[in-house]
Amino acid sequence: MSQSLATVAYLGAAILFILSLGGLSNPETSRRGNLFGMIGMALAVLATVFGPRVDAAGIAWIIAALVVGGGIGLYAARVVKMTQMPELVALMHSLVGLAACLVGFASYVDTSVQFQGAEKIIHEVEIYIGILIGAVTFSGSLIAFGKLNGKIGGKPLLLPARHWLNLVALLVVIWFGREFLNAHDASAGMTALIVMTAIALLFGVHMVMAIGGADMPVVVSMLNSYSGWAAAATGFMLSNDLLIVTGALVGSSGAILSYIMCNAMNRNFISVIAGGFGSGGGTPAKKGDAAEPQGEVVPVSAAETAEMLKDAKSVIIVPGYGMAVAQAQHTVCEITKTLREKGVDVRFAIHPVAGRMPGHMNVLLAEAKVPYDIVMEMDEINEDFPEADVAMVIGANDIVNPSAAEDPESPIAGMPVLEVWKARNSIVMKRSMASGYAGVDNPLFYKENNRMLFGDAKKMLDEVLGALKG
Ligand code: TAP
Repeated sequence: MSQSLATVAYLGAAILFILSLGGLSNPETSRRGNLFGMIGMALAVLATVFGPRVDAAGIAWIIAALVVGGGIGLYAARVVKMTQMPELVALMHSLVGLAACLVGFASYVDTSVQFQGAEKIIHEVEIYIGILIGAVTFSGSLIAFGKLNGKIGGKPLLLPARHWLNLVALLVVIWFGREFLNAHDASAGMTALIVMTAIALLFGVHMVMAIGGADMPVVVSMLNSYSGWAAAATGFMLSNDLLIVTGALVGSSGAILSYIMCNAMNRNFISVIAGGFGSGGGTPAKKGDAAEPQGEVVPVSAAETAEMLKDAKSVIIVPGYGMAVAQAQHTVCEITKTLREKGVDVRFAIHPVAGRMPGHMNVLLAEAKVPYDIVMEMDEINEDFPEADVAMVIGANDIVNPSAAEDPESPIAGMPVLEVWKARNSIVMKRSMASGYAGVDNPLFYKENNRMLFGDAKKMLDEVLGALKG
């Protein structure tokens, strides 16, 4: 393939990636967006493999790598459960970071291309910054992976004078950057690179360890953004325009998503990056542990729940992580259909960080074919709870926790939540009194107008559906 044909293919792929991002912004166009992304990626890979920069020996290497990497990817995609997606994504971000580091070191020791003067400085700056971003992304994403799958606790690690530590690390990195650019031989440059890499790796660990459980969504999207910038840096090192464009697209869209999430959670972007948010002054219960009882809870049966729903004029359903775990979305859709046939107004309230990844609940509800027009974002529906007869919470916890609004000492204080307790009645469906992801007790369970429907969401909803139909 000639250089000009490869350039045209790259341009086509870049346009398809932009169309893909546009499509993914809306549930109705997201399938098309995914298709554009897949075609764009296929085009990009083909143009690279058969492009002018790869010779016959190189093709063999690339095909071998594609078979191994593609095989692992296919296996992971088939075995990973929907609820484990964020962990998988975090792990993949770490690979992008690792790739940026390896390409950076390889570019530095590669003597086949000799740069002179300003070009040499630019090339070395690209290497230094590329490895820096890559190393932070690599170690930060690995810690995020550990936190998301519960291997590392959600409690923030707050080292004394942590901001000073970060500042000193930054100054040392700048100083070694100067040393690197002024290095007279490769071994002196390599020492500076290795020291900087070690500091960047530690910074990545420190940054994510200092984040409290409830703020993890922001960190995951931030690492997504970093992985984009790491890919863009790799593109600069390899002089690959498409990688630069793609990396910049991922980097900027991840940054915008992080910003939107920060706004939605009433968090300051810079403070989340600097760490320590989600720690608060309270003493959060360990995630998943039953918190100290703070009052009486009133349990209800599935049949009583069905009665309450049948008698209601207006019902708001709040899905959360537990609905995803139980895979209860299809039964939720059936219940919605049955209630609407009986003249009940049913709507869904979606919190921006419900579940474990952005849009988690929207994807599940769309999969179950719940009509889009009754699925509302938090801002659109939060004021309507006082008019609702029943607010039904399905496997959600942190996103409906009144202490975020009422207790300034709470670790999740200030985070906007769905105000289900303002409905005439609320029903919380979960298996036990255990706390949610942020590990914070939930006073909603003890409110006078709240009822608890204990059990697996799928099993209980099947019983509710049976009672509604019977
Ligand atoms: P959580 O606060 O994690 O609560 C989910 C609840 O579901 C748990 O308390 C659990 O209680 C219940 N549950 C689990 N399995 C269940 C099952 N099979 N049947 C019924 N209930 C079940 O979830 P949420 O309210 O959706 O809030 C999301 C949290 O995750 C927030 O803290 C958010 O910051 C964090 N987070 C979000 C994201 C994104 S981007 N969405 C990413 C990372 C972290 P039982 O054990 O008693 O059943």
